[in-house]
Amino acid sequence: MRDIKGVTPKLETRALDLFYGHFHALKQVSVSIRPRAITAIIGPSGCGKSTLLRVFNRMNDTIPGVRLSGEVLLDGQSIYSRNTDIQRLRKKVGMVFQRPNPFPLSVFENVAYGPKIHRLANSGDLHEQVEASLKQTGLWDDLKGRLNASALSLSPEQQQRLCISRLLAVEPEVLLMDEPCSALDPIATAQIEELLMQLKTQYTIAIVTHNMQQAARISDETAYMLLGELVEVGQTNAVFTRPRDPRTEQYISGRFG
Ligand SMILES: Nc1ncnc2c1ncn2[C@@H]1O[C@H](COP(=O)(O)OP(=O)(O)O)[C@@H](O)[C@H]1O
Ligand SMILES: [Mg+2]
Repeated sequence: MRDIKGVTPKLETRALDLFYGHFHALKQVSVSIRPRAITAIIGPSGCGKSTLLRVFNRMNDTIPGVRLSGEVLLDGQSIYSRNTDIQRLRKKVGMVFQRPNPFPLSVFENVAYGPKIHRLANSGDLHEQVEASLKQTGLWDDLKGRLNASALSLSPEQQQRLCISRLLAVEPEVLLMDEPCSALDPIATAQIEELLMQLKTQYTIAIVTHNMQQAARISDETAYMLLGELVEVGQTNAVFTRPRDPRTEQYISGRFG
């Protein structure tokens, strides 16, 4: 297994190609995602950022006509082998989407859903699990008196936090986030960013963002994608101040995208 500065990657792709039918959406992508850090995936619209993110928990599997070759590893093990348990994979590698998508259930039931399915907690512990997960996202104090309220009655920011709590409740290791702040106002965005900075001490986070300031503020590593290719990946500070590839330089200086 390749190391990044002595650290074993949490996630890795090697020479990954992905096709939607005849369309070549990911081209020879080799990337390593460091554990317990935030990796930002940036690039113009349509360049394969969401596709790459979905590769990591096999969310593309459900799309007809998808073909993929190359390797995708979690902790050094292929996640596309015949004996991969997809339910277990998605429990370890959870995903948060652009629009908060809580279930049309109560706050409590949203967070309890995963532990019930995975039978992580008996009913006595379930309450503690829900409380702990809501505390981790800073929702507990606001919502402890409203656990039976509909999740759909919450503000967009609270809904996004709830979706993160719902993930944390199944004790994942990796959080994949696809533009999780794009439906939020700047204050809510800053609060979610703050939360991600806390969560990275325990979890590996890969976040797609088309907000370059956000990538610069919160990420440790940045990967720049263009037309299905991984153009450059490295320490965020280096990518933003001393990009190695002229295409990265053009993008971050705002000349296109
Ligand atoms: N389900 C799909 N079927 C066919 N083409 C798709 C599908 N999803 C995405 N694509 C195409 O793959 C390319 C990359 O899409 P995507 O990963 O969503 O890009 P990004 O997240 O960077 O905007 C785009 O050209 C898009 O049109
Ligand atoms: Mg996308």
